[in-house]
Amino acid sequence: MSEKIREMFGSIAGRYDFMNDFLSLGIHKTWRTKTVKLSSAKKGDSILDCASGTGDLAIEFHKTVTDSGKVTATDFCEEMLLIGIEKFKAQNLKIETSIEDVMNLTFADNTFDISSIAFGIRNVDSPKKGLEEMARVVKPGGEVVVLEFGQPYGWFSLVYKILKIIYELFYQ
Ligand SMILES: C[S@@+](CC[C@H](N)C(=O)[O-])C[C@H]1O[C@@H](n2cnc3c(N)ncnc32)[C@H](O)[C@@H]1O
Repeated sequence: MSEKIREMFGSIAGRYDFMNDFLSLGIHKTWRTKTVKLSSAKKGDSILDCASGTGDLAIEFHKTVTDSGKVTATDFCEEMLLIGIEKFKAQNLKIETSIEDVMNLTFADNTFDISSIAFGIRNVDSPKKGLEEMARVVKPGGEVVVLEFGQPYGWFSLVYKILKIIYELFYQ
């Protein structure tokens, strides 16, 4: 299962950001900003972003922790992370990267102030194992931050269905 997910993201990595902007009408940017604001992140903190994909949440955390802290972006799909690395370089951001499976992180216990995952936990084979690992690597009193979709409802559900059909017709 994990291998299929990894291959799937590898095959869409180049168009993932466009897909995200298109299907959420750009709202995902606001959700990321809000997520960082709701977290306890502050200047100087160390953040581990898991299933970081093309790195947008890592970039958002970096705005708060700055270069006096440390942000590490990780994913088990190299193709996704490579797009993130290009963005970090283009924006001159000091964000570290590592290929990691969230269910088996290579970091020591109690390493980070915060571990985070955006739109990723639903793709993980064992969300429980992933969350346990994320909790293991944060310091006592640290935070595990999860940003995830619910099912669209009301008017947005209709808009989402229409956008999805347009995307599938023209961009897939
Ligand atoms: C929908 S994308 C989200 C990417 C990014 N966090 C964002 O907010 O746009 C899901 C990501 O989860 C990653 N992923 C899925 N299972 C994983 C696992 N077990 N370990 C690490 N990354 C995983 C995929 O490779 C993909 O990059």
